[in-house]
Amino acid sequence: MDRIRRIGVLTSGGDAPGMNATIRAVQLTAAACNIEVIGFKHGYNGLLESEYKTLLGHHVQNIIQRGGTILKSARCPALQTPDGPAQAAATLHQLDIDALIVIGGDGSFRGALEIAKHYNGQIIGVPGTIDNDVDGTDNTIGYATAIDTALDAIDKIRDTADAFERIFLVELMGRHSGYIALSAGIAAGAEQIICPEFGRLQPGDLRSVITPIQHAQLLLGKSSYIIVVAENSYPGGTTALADELSKAIGIECRACILGHIQRGGSPVGADRILGTKLGVFAVEQLLQGAHLQMAGEVNGEAVLYPLSKTGDRTKAIDPFLVRWQQQVGSS
Ligand code: F6P
Repeated sequence: MDRIRRIGVLTSGGDAPGMNATIRAVQLTAAACNIEVIGFKHGYNGLLESEYKTLLGHHVQNIIQRGGTILKSARCPALQTPDGPAQAAATLHQLDIDALIVIGGDGSFRGALEIAKHYNGQIIGVPGTIDNDVDGTDNTIGYATAIDTALDAIDKIRDTADAFERIFLVELMGRHSGYIALSAGIAAGAEQIICPEFGRLQPGDLRSVITPIQHAQLLLGKSSYIIVVAENSYPGGTTALADELSKAIGIECRACILGHIQRGGSPVGADRILGTKLGVFAVEQLLQGAHLQMAGEVNGEAVLYPLSKTGDRTKAIDPFLVRWQQQVGSS
């Protein structure tokens, strides 16, 4: 293909701390190679509604420390309509965009693959989501910050739980996966962690939750007890789980749903570095001809991984920690 002159970039799906570092790295790397960068606003909606602006050096100055994304993000049901992907590709053609960088999760990458069926240029993905549920990279941009945010909250909950010698269920994000729950739960010293990878809880059968609580009470007497729960782990949600548990053991249990607070905040150093590294790598690989690949990091090295495989869910949560947590958490 001819030399790349113009790159498009967008952030899509749940925003993640560190996305701004990636946008900055893309703009700076491209500018150094005399490539123009067009930033599309509000995820794929910016492509469908031609909402964009040329990103210049001053747009990416002073953003690396900011959460959210200067390009805004969104989910985009319109891209899933029959005409959506072709319409998005038409905008890219009209604007003479030679390559597109999509920063988001595997759902956003599925959208990119649909657009690619109609688009003559190159597409590369950069994994940005707090959930860490993307194959082909050890960590996604935003995951490290989300863990620290969750930890900060759980530590505070521990103080009040300790004062009241109460049982708390703290729900953490991760739509399909327990990465945040396992990591933050381990780091917070949670007594129990409930996540999809440990099996689904069935309403009416809470034995696997109750037995360890009773065991802890025998050993320690009345004391604080924290159960970290990955979202979507229980049919009625974590509040329903807390209510059922309260009834079953005769002790009042409190639920705390951490929610979107986990997506915000200034990115920690690891996310700024990962976001920068993968942004630079994405531009460099586009110049080498990469197409339909994701720029990820495995064992500290920037690598390419087929976009089509990023949602296969073959990446296991740390088996070492899983084994240990199951050993101590179920006793
Ligand atoms: O994918 C990131 C994420 O934060 C998930 O952890 C969560 O389930 C989802 O997004 C929430 O999405 P929304 O902001 O659309 O409610």
